[in-house]
Amino acid sequence: MSVRIAPSVLAADFANLEKEIKMVNESDADWFHIDIMDGVFVPNISFGMPVLKAIHKHAKKPLDVHLMIVEPDRYIEAFANLGSAVLTVHYEACDHLHRSIQKIKDCGMKAGVALNPHTPINNLKDLIHDIDLVCLMSVNPGFGGQSFIDHTFEKVKELKELIKARNANTLIEIDGGVTNHNATELIACGADVLVAGSYVFGASDPKATIKLLKEA
Ligand code: DX5
Ligand code: ZN
Repeated sequence: MSVRIAPSVLAADFANLEKEIKMVNESDADWFHIDIMDGVFVPNISFGMPVLKAIHKHAKKPLDVHLMIVEPDRYIEAFANLGSAVLTVHYEACDHLHRSIQKIKDCGMKAGVALNPHTPINNLKDLIHDIDLVCLMSVNPGFGGQSFIDHTFEKVKELKELIKARNANTLIEIDGGVTNHNATELIACGADVLVAGSYVFGASDPKATIKLLKEA
């Protein structure tokens, strides 16, 4: 299966959201990546339920929701009701990660776990077979438009090894600073899903940019 592309709506023009969503619908993208930030877990606030509801109304592709919030368990059911297909919580925000993952699955969604750049892959070794997707942060979460952290390549390889060793089906997603300059190497290292925000929505031709990433 070719790499999945998930444009991050955070970088979209919010005054023209319907148009931006339509562009993604008509493109080669696979998912919508939705960043929810609470101003506590990360030093930024993005948007919440009403905006997600509006996105869901027009989106014709699965919603990949990335929660950068504390106590994510409190909102798992709400995000399921808002149409999330994949729900990703942060390793660093969960005291009982196994419980959070089970709750996400019980609500009918795929369960994702995101790792901040400083969090070792090895922390997931006892849980990897339960996780549908690991989101490796290739920037510090909180903002779009940051530079890719090169150490991510090593982490992708290490995660791929762990997934193989445990015979798991976990997808590897890369989030932050993804461009056509690192996409090919990320895929070669084992990435399955590439999130791209500013690179796509800031491009003069976003659909062509998505296609470029898809064919990287
Ligand atoms: C960062 C978010 C990312 C972000 C990616 O905290 O999780 O999804 O929107 O944006 P770019 O591709 O611009 O780095
Ligand atoms: Zn994200």
